[in-house]
Amino acid sequence: MIHPHSIQQILDTVPIDDLVGDYVKLKRSGSRFKGNCPFHDEKTPSFVVTPSLNIYKCFGCQKGGNSIQFLMEMEQMTFVEAARDLAKRYGITLMESEGPKGEEAMEQQRQKESLQALNEFALTFFESQLHNTEEGQTVALPYFKERGYTTETIKEWRLGYSPQSWEAFYNHAKKAGYSDELLLNAGLIKKRDSDGKIYDLFRNRVIFPLVSVSGRVVGFAGRIMGKVDKAPKYVNSPETSLYKKSDFLFATDKAKNAIRAEDYSLLMEGYTDVMTLHQAGIKNAVASSGTALTPGQIKLIKRFSENATAVYDGDKAGIKASLRGVDLLLEGGLNVRVVTMPEGEDPDSYCKQLGPEGFKEFLKNNEQNFIVFKANMLFEEAGSDPIKRSEALRDILQSISLINDGLKRDALLQELESISQTEVDLLRTEVSKILHKKTRTQERKVLREVDNLISDASKLANKGSSIVEYALNDKHQEKAILEFVLKFGGMEFDEDNRIIDFVVEEFEQDQVIKFKDPTYAKIMDRLMEIHSERPEWVTIKELIADPTVEISSFAANILSEEHELSKAFEKNMISVTTRSENYKNEIYDLFLHLRRTKIEELIIEHQKMLGDEEYDETEVLDFLNELIRKKSEIASKIGAVVTRI
Ligand code: GTP
Ligand code: MN
Repeated sequence: MIHPHSIQQILDTVPIDDLVGDYVKLKRSGSRFKGNCPFHDEKTPSFVVTPSLNIYKCFGCQKGGNSIQFLMEMEQMTFVEAARDLAKRYGITLMESEGPKGEEAMEQQRQKESLQALNEFALTFFESQLHNTEEGQTVALPYFKERGYTTETIKEWRLGYSPQSWEAFYNHAKKAGYSDELLLNAGLIKKRDSDGKIYDLFRNRVIFPLVSVSGRVVGFAGRIMGKVDKAPKYVNSPETSLYKKSDFLFATDKAKNAIRAEDYSLLMEGYTDVMTLHQAGIKNAVASSGTALTPGQIKLIKRFSENATAVYDGDKAGIKASLRGVDLLLEGGLNVRVVTMPEGEDPDSYCKQLGPEGFKEFLKNNEQNFIVFKANMLFEEAGSDPIKRSEALRDILQSISLINDGLKRDALLQELESISQTEVDLLRTEVSKILHKKTRTQERKVLREVDNLISDASKLANKGSSIVEYALNDKHQEKAILEFVLKFGGMEFDEDNRIIDFVVEEFEQDQVIKFKDPTYAKIMDRLMEIHSERPEWVTIKELIADPTVEISSFAANILSEEHELSKAFEKNMISVTTRSENYKNEIYDLFLHLRRTKIEELIIEHQKMLGDEEYDETEVLDFLNELIRKKSEIASKIGAVVTRI
């Protein structure tokens, strides 16, 4: 159970207008917000959000409540699901009301809250150093002004200054009662190894607060003023329980509304770039702080829009490192476009040069599809070197195969034809190979998952004994498998396995697949023996000469019906319509069938167990539900794998 304290905390800290704003376009109206109700159809807004009370209410359909209720209604969640979701979104550690886990979470939450308070305290100090001391006014403020930031911007972004001193902040914090431990934890002070002397992390630097998406100060970046020579340009807070570098994007709190409204984000590298753009009225910009984008950052930005434009500084070295990040964007389902600044410019300098309108114009005219951009760059780099060119092509095809939409993929391949000077049909074949490999790997994972479920369910049904047999339905199924192996055994199943490898693996799994027919069983044993003895798979002709009589005559029979599969096989199994890619799907389907049969048996068994007092009813019901779910999952997979590309 979630502790009531946590529930209260969610209700207190989640800004309702921000949460609702994720789903509804809100317009300020006095101290409240209005919008079209998301719960019923309407043209004139009667849906009102009141931040001071943290509630919403629709005067049309009468729905209303707090942030948890909103999410429950909006996302069809249970109370607990909604509470957990909100806690995650807004960085609240939930306390469970009982047990040691609750204690731990409670402690974590206390930790976070003290860090939070300390960061706020530190920022107030840095701000005051900037505005209220002579040093700040004569050294730091002019630095910001020279870079073109207005007083308003400086205040809004809560910029600060850390004075030229080893312990100004430390002394100030100690006077206020903060412990060394907490200060060290926050990374605001450091302890010298040699003599244990404590000193400030930020000294003689201008301070940019790092603010979370919900508006909390989670850390700081301190920039050296003037020329960068020996010292690093930026010093950043270390990671803490509040600040995880890989999940953080600078300025999401200030950019999120604009990103929603314009339905795209501008991803750039530097803090100053983002601030300059915002000051110029381009408010959908955020910064990744110079590193390649991470999955966590992508998830964050996707909450506000699925479209992103990555803006790169005009130097090639930086771009290449960032390209890796963009692959992640694609995988995360974002639509990515790319713009590069002219040589020697960054968004900060270039926006100042062109002005806001000119800069926006520039972005519009120069943005490219990410893959086209990447291809152009890699091929330009590779020149005429054939090895480099094929590496470039491989790299790009990998990127393309990350896109789920087949039409988009094909459009890109057509563009790639001229860039790579490779025929589009060849490109298509290569991409389908990559995709095939991926689906095969996923499919085998599905088989293993089903196996685990069946094994667990069987354990209950058999009271502890865990042996599961996937008995084959009848002789035709057994024969079908053998025919497959004889005809296609040496052909590719996925990148690393042939059909025979896949079949042998199936037979060698913990769950035993057994042939009932003694002749077929003997043939299978012999095939497995051959498999373990030789690296090359045998031809049918070789099998005809095999010392095991059963195999040789079976092989002879197959060879004699070479072009057509046996009548029985056709009638009882999936028909083999073509010898191309389909053979892979069919052998896979065959083993899916086996599992479905087993699941059906187990469902019947569990249904009987329901009335039996010997069994724990909830446990049986759980398995039953799971089995039924898996059965329909399998059913939808059988036959569905065919020609997916
Ligand atoms: P200006 O040079 O003031 O315009 O800063 P910038 O923010 O544009 O920096 P730059 O484009 O050189 O780098 C982009 C981002 O990388 C910065 O905003 C920082 O987040 C990060 N970065 C740059 N240099 C350093 C450094 O020395 N240390 C750390 N930790 N991060 C850095
Ligand atoms: Mn810059």
